[in-house]
Amino acid sequence: MQRVLLIIGGGIAAYKAPELVRQLRAQGLGVRCLMTAAAAQFVSPLSLASVSGDKVYDNLFDLTDEAEMGHIQLSRDADIILVAPATADLMAKAAQGLANDLASTSLLATDKKIIMAPAMNVRMWQHEATQRNLAQLRADGVTIIGPEEGDMACGEFGPGRMSEPQDIATATAAALGASPRIDAAQKSALAGRKIVLTAGPTHEPIDPVRYIANRSSGKQGYAIAAALAEAGANVHLVSGPTNLPAPAGVTLERIETAREMLAAVEAQLPVDGAVMTAAVADWRPADCDTQKIKKNGASPEPLALTENPDILAILGAAGDNRPALLIGFAAETENLEAHARAKLERKKCDWIVANNVGSDSGIEGGVMGGDANQVTLICADTKNPQVETFDIMSKQNIAALLTERMAAYFAKTEKG
Ligand code: CTP
Repeated sequence: MQRVLLIIGGGIAAYKAPELVRQLRAQGLGVRCLMTAAAAQFVSPLSLASVSGDKVYDNLFDLTDEAEMGHIQLSRDADIILVAPATADLMAKAAQGLANDLASTSLLATDKKIIMAPAMNVRMWQHEATQRNLAQLRADGVTIIGPEEGDMACGEFGPGRMSEPQDIATATAAALGASPRIDAAQKSALAGRKIVLTAGPTHEPIDPVRYIANRSSGKQGYAIAAALAEAGANVHLVSGPTNLPAPAGVTLERIETAREMLAAVEAQLPVDGAVMTAAVADWRPADCDTQKIKKNGASPEPLALTENPDILAILGAAGDNRPALLIGFAAETENLEAHARAKLERKKCDWIVANNVGSDSGIEGGVMGGDANQVTLICADTKNPQVETFDIMSKQNIAALLTERMAAYFAKTEKG
């Protein structure tokens, strides 16, 4: 079993810690809690001990604990460290490398991945010092989840509320490479939702025997279609030419060109959600010869190209027909986040899943055609954009992660 060291900071959001422990355990993870002195004002160590099924650690100078389990051992035993709520103080300490209590020493003594879910007053969050610390933590490789915007316990409104325990637990499981689990409530939020997906490459004919194509295998899109269908969604997959069989429970429609893909997607509207994973050819030959082009001994004619329709951008601007949740993918070889953000704005989608398809991705066999992927999920919200970077994981796990996020989105909109 993989283990999480959950460091609970001293903020009002600490009251959500027992629920977070439950959600982490529901993901199949073992949890050990460590709380700062201030956290004990907001949540009882006893309730944490009972939900985690383990002793709760809270004092660096407790000699019994140091003898039994020092801060080094605490971080060594964990596969990942999760700080939730991450207060301004804990973030500042971690960014500066300060170590004067059990929480900060454990953070400094570890070489494991760290995830932080910040929670604080909106002004504290927006303060230059916190933003500086945030940038430093990101540069140090810490994954930041949230904070979300909303009404806060202090009576103000804005970014600063801790993300929901379920979202934090899913991201933690995903960071560990575990397949996120979808619970019954989320399944019911997806049940019967109509989702259209695109996947694979497109083939743009030059003449009856030749075409322009790309290296997309369709594996990521097919995996997402399968995961959504398994969770109960009504899935229509529009696919370019691939070698993959139809995923169970999915309606598969095979097409060849970008224009056929667009027509097939438009025929499905309106839909609740759309996930555009296809590597659509940006250009097609301006004219497709009806006969095979012959060599004829002369130098070849340059191939005149014309731009293909952008299916994602067309859906983003579809007015009343726009899917409630529109998700794009961004295949980049450099400046991943900046390029992906620009794409998200240009194509007016809600989320974009950015993946590095360059040769430096570190993924065996490459992203295109391979079985693994490494993604950054960016959610559009100009005031409070959420950016989460995940470790390399299988395309199946990425599909489960995205399905879980989509289920959570629909569950929230149902409630709202
Ligand atoms: N996309 C689309 N139709 C197109 C081109 C792209 O629907 N004609 C979608 C893809 O399915 C993906 C997103 O747009 O969800 C981004 O695709 P990508 O190839 O990364 O971006 P491009 O728009 O082609 O930009 P560029 O090639 O300049 O990076």
